[in-house]
Amino acid sequence: MESAIPDLRDVPRAPAYAQLLEMQAVLLEGSDDHIAAMATTSALLHHAFGHLWTGFYRVVEPGALLRVGPYQGSLGCLDILFGRGVCGTAAAEGRTVVVEDVHAFPGHITCDPRSASEIVVPVFDASGALLAVLDIDSPVQAAFGDDDRAGLEALVAWFARAPYVPA
Ligand code: SME
Repeated sequence: MESAIPDLRDVPRAPAYAQLLEMQAVLLEGSDDHIAAMATTSALLHHAFGHLWTGFYRVVEPGALLRVGPYQGSLGCLDILFGRGVCGTAAAEGRTVVVEDVHAFPGHITCDPRSASEIVVPVFDASGALLAVLDIDSPVQAAFGDDDRAGLEALVAWFARAPYVPA
């Protein structure tokens, strides 16, 4: 099994995400464990692109509360209310939110002062329920665009696969 995470910082985003999607499928083959998948997906993205913070906030009270899950990077806040900050907005609205300048986003929650831009992608399970959000922070302004949105939505689609049925 391929275990080293490639450095994709200089690779165009669309083929870079295609490579990570293939690695994710191989690494998670035979698994139905959401925490294992969150940890593996965070590690792939964080080290391939050299982000500041890459990880998941899990829905612990549907419609009300997110709590930090597997992540890579500097320390994250523990709890985020639905509707608060970028993560809470993506969770409340069930859509990807791209923020070019976090300082211009009303209610942005500062976990790391070096964060300049971010993208937050909702994660749905096979029933269509919101399971978590994937949050990625960058020290660079406007670091994320449409290729990131498409690539990340493809990676989190893993969580909406048909439930695993043991043989
Ligand atoms: N920036 C996020 C909070 C989470 S951390 O940055 C890890 C937000 O405003 O939702």
